[in-house]
Amino acid sequence: MNKHFFDRLLKGEETLAVIGLGYVGLPIALAFARKVKVLGFDINQERVALMRQGIDPSNELTSEAFKDCNIRFSSDAEDLNEVSFYIVAVPTPIDDANLPDLKPLLSATRSVAGSLTKGNYVVFESTVYPGCTEEDCIPVLEELSGLTYNIDFFVGYSPERINPGDKVHTLENVVKIVSGSTPEALETVASVYELVVDAGVHRAPTIKVAEAAKIIENTQRDVNIALINELSIIFNKLNINTYDVLEAAGTKWNFLNFTPGLVGGHCIGVDPYYLTHRAQQAGYHSKVITSGRYVNDSMGFYIAKQTVKKVIAQGKVIQQSRALIMGVTFKEDVTDIRNSKVIDIVNELKSYQMSVDLVDPHASSEEMHHEYGVSLVSAPVDKYDAIIVAVNHREYAALDEAYFSSLMATEQGVFIDVKGLYKGKIHRLEYWSL
Ligand SMILES: NC(=O)c1ccc[n+]([C@@H]2O[C@H](COP(=O)([O-])OP(=O)(O)OC[C@H]3O[C@@H](n4cnc5c(N)ncnc54)[C@H](O)[C@@H]3O)[C@@H](O)[C@H]2O)c1
Repeated sequence: MNKHFFDRLLKGEETLAVIGLGYVGLPIALAFARKVKVLGFDINQERVALMRQGIDPSNELTSEAFKDCNIRFSSDAEDLNEVSFYIVAVPTPIDDANLPDLKPLLSATRSVAGSLTKGNYVVFESTVYPGCTEEDCIPVLEELSGLTYNIDFFVGYSPERINPGDKVHTLENVVKIVSGSTPEALETVASVYELVVDAGVHRAPTIKVAEAAKIIENTQRDVNIALINELSIIFNKLNINTYDVLEAAGTKWNFLNFTPGLVGGHCIGVDPYYLTHRAQQAGYHSKVITSGRYVNDSMGFYIAKQTVKKVIAQGKVIQQSRALIMGVTFKEDVTDIRNSKVIDIVNELKSYQMSVDLVDPHASSEEMHHEYGVSLVSAPVDKYDAIIVAVNHREYAALDEAYFSSLMATEQGVFIDVKGLYKGKIHRLEYWSL
């Protein structure tokens, strides 16, 4: 490893920058800022202003996390000139055609290239397809900086395993994969990450291996959930409770623990498309992964159709019926509504002319309106024909049948328990779960 560089970093004579301070970037920047001198860089000036006041715009960290940190926040690309170790953690979304959208990644890469100098290291953390770092990012770094890869500057890839809302699996206590463009770069990158990851690092043999490892972690999860979602559709037709089946099958030592549900957010529902895109470019048309995506992407519509069928079966006129949806975030106990599949339920119910109210103790009504054109109500406001608990927020665990019944227009309203949270606890309402 480059001991000279590493020692200077430890002494505060070199600066480490994290580019993109979202769910992934900010915790990493703050963790490093307890060990070395850090520049936190983000193009979003509003977010930077909040972080300067010790506020995490993503609502994951408390002000405590900003204490005792040697960090300066900036949205001025000029400030990157002082940096010698860059970590890029910007979003890697998909576009409307489910194809990788590399615009933020390449834009951040250009910012880095603008201040890159000899002896610098650039580590990418954003989730990408295998080959993206070397084929898409490094050429930009070389072209704009005029420097030569692996002679003047070195590159690494270290995927992120952070799980928003999860206070158990943290940056510090989960092994982190690292990779480098040369054996020395690998050791330098590994040593830098070892400063903050107590659980240690796994040295991947190549950058492509590290990229592929990350993408298959999420793809494997997506495909497994898709299987359980499909089983849930089959069991529904056979009048078997899916959770009863999973509980029984789960007594076998090697049965995998997955449950049915909506797959939203910007990781599991997105990353497999990066892999299938790259596979397609390589001449292979993925079947299993794309089928899984299809099943998971259809679940919101499926849940809405089951709701509509049950309301009609109760002799109600669907156009005059009202639904309450509880929970709109992409998963439990987080504030993030981006790529939430609950909106598919809303849109499908509305397409049947049902009126829909939404509540969520974590989500922001303004953000919902901005992202999807629908607002939240602060509390359930009227008598409903159907209630859908779409997200298992911790606040919902203590609710009981008496509470839900009090919100219903009729004694036997339809109760849709997407995550099976109230299994065995609802007796009078018309109960359905995945
Ligand atoms: N959130 C997760 O759970 C998670 C987990 C593992 C990996 N990842 C991956 O990490 C990456 C980042 O995800 P995230 O959830 O932190 O994203 P995010 O949307 O929370 O934050 C991204 C930040 O990057 C900033 N940004 C965008 N373009 C920029 C640019 N050109 N220069 C500087 N800053 C820029 C945005 O303003 C924002 O503050 C993605 O590739 C994602 O797939 C995310």
